[in-house]
Amino acid sequence: MRIFAPAKINLHLEVLEKRPDGYHEIQSLMQRVDLSDEVDVRTGGEGIRLVAEGEAIPGGMDNLACRAAQLFCRRTGVTEGLEIRIRKRIPVAAGLGGGSSNAGAVLAALNDLFRVGLDQDSLMEMGAQLGSDVPFFLFPKPALARGRGEKLSAVGLPERLGFLLLVPPFRISTPWSYETFDRLTGGKKKEGAQLRDSYPALADLLPALKNDLEIPALSRYPEIGRMKEELLRQGAKGALMSGSGPVTFGLFPSKKEAEEAARRLKLPEGWQSIVAQGI
Ligand code: C5P
Repeated sequence: MRIFAPAKINLHLEVLEKRPDGYHEIQSLMQRVDLSDEVDVRTGGEGIRLVAEGEAIPGGMDNLACRAAQLFCRRTGVTEGLEIRIRKRIPVAAGLGGGSSNAGAVLAALNDLFRVGLDQDSLMEMGAQLGSDVPFFLFPKPALARGRGEKLSAVGLPERLGFLLLVPPFRISTPWSYETFDRLTGGKKKEGAQLRDSYPALADLLPALKNDLEIPALSRYPEIGRMKEELLRQGAKGALMSGSGPVTFGLFPSKKEAEEAARRLKLPEGWQSIVAQGI
């Protein structure tokens, strides 16, 4: 069974108080884009095996997709061998949720493949055990995420927004990002901005663009700030880093406008651009 596992963009991400379990309360606006990995799940052989193509990803049980399969089998009593094939197109450790998306895709695929009939809430609960972003990939709409990211409600966003994603040659680890955020800010914010449940037009969304995890990222990589300015110079209506970074995006009314800006933009050595559309 083949599933397309899309990347996500955070249009808003505020880090609130640190919790006793080490996670932070957050509030975030999340949206899928049409940049996807391909995930194939097949039965057969012994145990859970991973075959990966593209950028290197963690192997075996260090990989979230394999851990998703293991958790699913344990919960449902499935004992068959499985092969998971991932064709990677989403940059890894980049703030685009690629690993979480792969894990969500595996849970959904196994639910169909073995006709287990778990409902969306059960799959999302399993996803939350694997990682804070996994439930979003089992939720069918753009979402406002709260809690540590697993409490989701649907948000209305303008359709087919264009994104110009800039991928730097370095990567950022999520735990480092949150730890550095705490160190630099004290990490004591109690309340986030007031968010809406619908942003009908791009102009409504622009004031909500904010990412607290830019604070740690910019402290180490000021070039992210320079690329945000460059995106705005090239006509982006807004520019922001996604998730814990380092991928930084410009927001455009359409994919076509994002493509035109991509042609004009001069990238620093080692950076790449990807044009995508909200889905
Ligand atoms: O849930 P996930 O495994 O993706 O989180 C990775 C790390 O990011 C956590 O171990 C934690 O350090 C940090 N994190 C956090 N608060 C969140 C989400 C992640 O502190 N809401």
